[in-house]
Amino acid sequence: MNALAIALHGLAATVWVGGMFFAYVVLRPSMSLLEPHRRLTIWAGVFKRFFPWVWMAVLILPLTGYWLVFSAFGGFATSPVYVHLMHALGLLMIVLFIYLYYRPYASLKTAVASEDWPAAGVALNRVRHVVLINLVFGLVLVASVYAGRYGLFS
Ligand code: HEM
Repeated sequence: MNALAIALHGLAATVWVGGMFFAYVVLRPSMSLLEPHRRLTIWAGVFKRFFPWVWMAVLILPLTGYWLVFSAFGGFATSPVYVHLMHALGLLMIVLFIYLYYRPYASLKTAVASEDWPAAGVALNRVRHVVLINLVFGLVLVASVYAGRYGLFS
């Protein structure tokens, strides 16, 4: 069961952090030459396809993470520092994603549907900021888990 939990946990983290990396570092500059209405419509479509995967990750990561903490590490008191750091950063990332989904992303969808391009531009910029914060948190989290296992914090 622990083997299944860590496999799902690792896959969920890869899909979420890797997806944000691709969107921010590769897709964003590639779309900058498009006219605003095309760019904003494509971004709305990209998020519509990516966010269901993020919702899956947002459910799977804490479920499998808490499972591992209690069944593989014997609880938080006996867990290493990098697991505490992952727990804190992971919860923060989840809260930020939920905010992003229900606030700036909801505004982006409404603005794109009503072809209000200036409002859609403002909303996309907010989405971009939150994704950047979550991408940085995600990269720090993943790096600290792997480095933590090799003694970075001990
Ligand atoms: C609720 C929060 C979370 C808890 C309680 C948690 C807990 C854990 C535990 C106990 C491990 C096993 C550590 C080990 O075997 O040394 C682990 C591994 C890992 N976690 Fe988390 N985690 C959480 C959230 C996240 C999030 C949000 C991400 C990334 C987006 C993430 C990425 C990883 C990665 C990459 C590993 C290593 C997987 C591997 O073995 O290759 N975790 N986590």
